[in-house]
Amino acid sequence: VTTPIVRPYQENDHDAVIALWAEVFPDEPEWNQSQGLIELKLTVQPHLFFVCVVEGEIVGTTIAGFDGVRGWVHKVGTSPAHRRFGIARHLMRAAEESLARLGCHKVNLQVRDGNDNAVEFYKDAGYQVEQRVSLSKHIGVASVI
Ligand SMILES: CC(C)(COP(=O)(O)OP(=O)(O)OC[C@H]1O[C@@H](n2cnc3c(N)ncnc32)[C@H](O)[C@@H]1OP(=O)(O)O)[C@@H](O)C(=O)NCCC(=O)NCCS
Repeated sequence: VTTPIVRPYQENDHDAVIALWAEVFPDEPEWNQSQGLIELKLTVQPHLFFVCVVEGEIVGTTIAGFDGVRGWVHKVGTSPAHRRFGIARHLMRAAEESLARLGCHKVNLQVRDGNDNAVEFYKDAGYQVEQRVSLSKHIGVASVI
């Protein structure tokens, strides 16, 4: 078995990442539309967008970001055929190391209610469930015109 390589996203990974996300995140809402999300991430801390490659194939991703107070992690996903080989663990480690280098002390992330496998994965990676209420608001150009 080839050792998985975790590295920053490159432009020619685009189609493979879109295909992977379609398989791994089939129920994403339209505001997480993959194309736009990739384009935007490449304008903000693009070096915190990681892919994992096994035998030339992109099998996992993680997107991280640091806002100056907290680190955030999104799009942690592994292709079904490559699960339970430590791929996501490698990706999280890369994201955490890069966030720490920017001065980040604490990472937050959200898991949809009912995604118990993901919770188990994050607990194994050292995360704990915190009693918080998660709020959000859609903002953007359309709302201020
Ligand atoms: C959650 C997910 C990212 C884990 O990816 P992975 O590459 O299989 O995870 P790893 O192999 O690095 O797992 C590391 C450890 O996490 C825990 N873990 C991972 N998947 C688990 C599962 N389904 N159930 C219980 N524990 C799990 C285990 O302790 C595992 O170590 P072990 O295999 O030696 O027991 C993957 O199942 C996935 O892509 N799920 C769909 C997308 C998703 O829900 N992403 C999270 C969004 S918040």
